[in-house]
Amino acid sequence: MLALSSQLGATAKAVAFVMAGRSLNDVLLDGSVVKPDMRAGVQALSFAVLRNWGMARALRELLAPREPMPPVDALLCTALALLVSEPDSGASYTDFTLVNQAVDAAKAHSKTRTSASFINAILRRFLREREALTQQAARSEEAQYNHPQWWIDQLRREQPGNWQAILAANQMKPPLTLRVNLAKTTVVEFTELLALQGVATLGTEMAPLQPLLDKACGLVLRDTPAVQGLPHYADGWFSVQDIAAQGAAAQLLNDEFLARLVGRAKQGHKIRVLDACAAPGGKTTHLIERLLCAFADAGMPVLSGEDWGKHFEVVALELDAKRARRVHENLSRLKQRAVVKIADAAQVANWWDGVPFDAILLDAPCTASGIVRRHPDVRWLRRESDAGAMGHIQLAMLQSLWTTLAAQGRLLYATCSVFQLEGEVIKRQFLQIERQAKALDSHGLWLPSLLHDGFYDALFEKTTA
Ligand SMILES: C[S@@+](CC[C@H](N)C(=O)[O-])C[C@H]1O[C@@H](n2cnc3c(N)ncnc32)[C@H](O)[C@@H]1O
Repeated sequence: MLALSSQLGATAKAVAFVMAGRSLNDVLLDGSVVKPDMRAGVQALSFAVLRNWGMARALRELLAPREPMPPVDALLCTALALLVSEPDSGASYTDFTLVNQAVDAAKAHSKTRTSASFINAILRRFLREREALTQQAARSEEAQYNHPQWWIDQLRREQPGNWQAILAANQMKPPLTLRVNLAKTTVVEFTELLALQGVATLGTEMAPLQPLLDKACGLVLRDTPAVQGLPHYADGWFSVQDIAAQGAAAQLLNDEFLARLVGRAKQGHKIRVLDACAAPGGKTTHLIERLLCAFADAGMPVLSGEDWGKHFEVVALELDAKRARRVHENLSRLKQRAVVKIADAAQVANWWDGVPFDAILLDAPCTASGIVRRHPDVRWLRRESDAGAMGHIQLAMLQSLWTTLAAQGRLLYATCSVFQLEGEVIKRQFLQIERQAKALDSHGLWLPSLLHDGFYDALFEKTTA
C-alpha cells in the first residue's frame, strides 16, 4: 500500500508541471516525476485537483497572501483542492487524513520543518473557517467555476443561455460509453451479454439521441468497469467512444448517402473514404463498420481478406507516427483493414494519388475545449488565442482536403471544441471561399452534458455546378 503522503507529493509535482505547460498524460508517463506504481493513484488525485484548481488558488491567496516557495505552494494548493473536492471525486479521504498526510509530504520534501508547520497551520485554519473562506473565494468566477477567466468570458459571450451548464458539465466525471460493432453483433445481444456480467447501461436515457445517430450503436454504462474484461473485447465486438464522437461517422456515412455509394459500387466503382486525422482510429473503425454493414445489407458482404479491397478502400492519415501505431492496433483488434499513411493531411501533394475520395472525415486537431471533463488539465493549458490559431489551421486543412473530394462527395468537418472559432466560424468562412461547397444538415454544436462530450460537426457536399 502506497502512503498517501507520497502520492500527494507526486500529485503536487505533477500539477505544477501542468501549470508550467506540460500535458498531464505526458507528466504521468514521465518516470522521473511519477513512479509507475503510483501512476493510477496520482492520476485520480490530479484529476480531482485540476477540477478544483481555481478554488484552491483563490483560497491559498486568502490564507497566505504572500506566495510561498513554488513546491510549498503546489502542495498547499493540492491539499486545498482535495479538501474542497466532491466526495466521489476519486479522493475520498477525511479532512483529518488529508491534512496529516499533506504535512507528512511536506516533511518528506523539505529538510527543515518550517514548510510542514506552515502547511499545517494554513490547512487547519482553512478547516476552522471553511465556510466563510469558500464564500469569499467564490466571489472570483475563476474560483467559482474552476476555469480560467478568459474561458468563462468567451463561453458567456458565445453561449449566453448555456455557459453555466457547460462549465458545470465540465466538472462532471464522464461516463464510459461503448460503440457496439454492428458488423459483429447487435445492441440488444450485446446489452444482454453485459447484463449477464452485471454491467448496467443507461439505455433509455439515450432515446432522445437515437434519431440523430441513425442506427445508433452507443451504450452509456452506469459504472466504469475495465473494458478488457467486457464481453468479446479481443474479438472487437465494441469500441470505447463518446456518443457525440459516434455522430461523426453516422452523419458522414448516413443511410441515404451509403445507399448512393453502394449503388455506385454495384456499377463497378470502388468507394474511397478518407479519414484525414485518424489516430487513435476510433472514427476510422466506425466508418469501416458502417461500410461493412451497408454492403452486407445490400447482399454484397465483405467477408474474407480478399474481398476487402473489392468494394471500398479506407485511407487513414496521421501526422504523428507514434499515434499512427494506435490506428493499426485498433484495426487489428476489430479485424479490419485500412491504408494507414503517416502524412500531413494539408500537404496533399505528399500523399494523394490523385484518385478522388467519395467521403472525407476531417476530425481536426483543436483546443479540445469540449472534452475538459475527460482531460481536466486542458482548461489550464490553453491560452486565449489558441482557438483562433487552431481555427486557421483547420480552415487550411479543409481547403486542401476539399481538392481531393469527388463531385457529389461529402466531407464532415468535426472538432471536439465548444468555441465558435473552431466550429461555426470556420464553417461560414469555408462556405464563402468554396463556391462548390453546399452545407447539409448536421448536428452542429453538441453542448457537453452528462451523456456526451462537447463536439462540433458540419457536413458539406461538393456540388457539380
Ligand atoms: C482529434 S484527433 C483525431 C481522433 C480520431 N479521429 C479518432 O476518432 O480516434 C486529431 C489527430 O490529428 C492528428 N493531426 C494533427 N495535425 C495533422 C495533420 N496536419 N495531418 C494529419 N493528422 C494530423 C493528431 O496527431 C491527432 O492524432
